[in-house]
Amino acid sequence: MKLKIAVLPGDGIGPEIMEQGVAVCSAIAQKFGHEVSYDTALCGAHAIDEVGDPFPEETFQICEQADAVLFASVGDPKFDNDPTAKVRPEQGLLAMRKKLGLYANIRPVETFECLIHKSPLKDEIVRGADFICIRELTGGMYFGKKQEPTINADGVEDALDTNYYTRPEVERILHVAYQYARQRRNHLTVVDKANVLASSRLWRKVAQEIAPQYPDVETDFMYVDNAAMRMIQDPKFFDVMVTENTFGDILTDEGSVITGSMGLLPSASTGSSTPVFEPIHGSWPQGKGLNIANPLAQILSVAMLYEYFNLKEEGTLIREAVNASLAQNVRTPEIQVEGAPQYGTKEVGKWIVDYIRQK
Ligand code: IPM
Ligand code: MN
Repeated sequence: MKLKIAVLPGDGIGPEIMEQGVAVCSAIAQKFGHEVSYDTALCGAHAIDEVGDPFPEETFQICEQADAVLFASVGDPKFDNDPTAKVRPEQGLLAMRKKLGLYANIRPVETFECLIHKSPLKDEIVRGADFICIRELTGGMYFGKKQEPTINADGVEDALDTNYYTRPEVERILHVAYQYARQRRNHLTVVDKANVLASSRLWRKVAQEIAPQYPDVETDFMYVDNAAMRMIQDPKFFDVMVTENTFGDILTDEGSVITGSMGLLPSASTGSSTPVFEPIHGSWPQGKGLNIANPLAQILSVAMLYEYFNLKEEGTLIREAVNASLAQNVRTPEIQVEGAPQYGTKEVGKWIVDYIRQK
């Protein structure tokens, strides 16, 4: 297969983990006889510094013309503590999602047997947890009408975000979620806050209407506060959960606690244009340049990329290599066992590439 991949390394640890992701992508391509080409493009704080725009038009063109985008992370502390900044690196990520129509963000939460003890939760709670969160990605508060902090008519400073959803936006994400549920254990949990929010009542109404089209799937509804609790009390309850943009953002960070490290969770964002594959973690500026960032979420994003194109064996080999590296304690510091030698970002990546080559 021929694959044209847009590579967006972004900021912080992004370029370091991306280097390993691309190396693994190429090793797989070589092994299975695929022709993969890469186009690297600017985004995030880097792009602001160089061209004044966190998602420049040129980057958009490169993404649009590619078969897939491999994205690392954006963000820079110099913007975090400046609420008055006119442009922010995160706007680049949001612009990418909106312009590529990436309304469905698929975030699997799985456990790795040899990392069970790394979760702060009890072994018996975590072992066997395996669910996916389908996060709506181009609507809700992230994109609704906003008003930045300003002094109102009463002389009081105020600000506003609007949690706006339309029926078609809710319908399409629910259908995606049902398709996933059908390929898994036929259980869908719709997470909302319908006891308080009007937008959630729209979600619930639409979901109740659609559910009969999928009689083979058991649908249940859960308030987001309850879901946050259930996720760490009994994560095995979940198979597929679907939720709005903001709730999905929060719940998936919580999900990483089940796995044991943020550095392990990949994601896929799909919609009307080129799909994007990216880790769920951020740019971790403190780790930048130290060769300590975990490249596995990026590498597993490459597995999701191949699987998206129905190249199952390719994805499986990447997962096998990742599991083998973990089992043999080839791990970055945050998940390393006490007393075992430390491996850096590069060394973990290289080990995985070698494993793939030798297979
Ligand atoms: C994520 C991130 C982004 C989000 C940030 C960086 C804008 O936290 O992908 O989960 O909030 O969606
Ligand atoms: Mn997030």
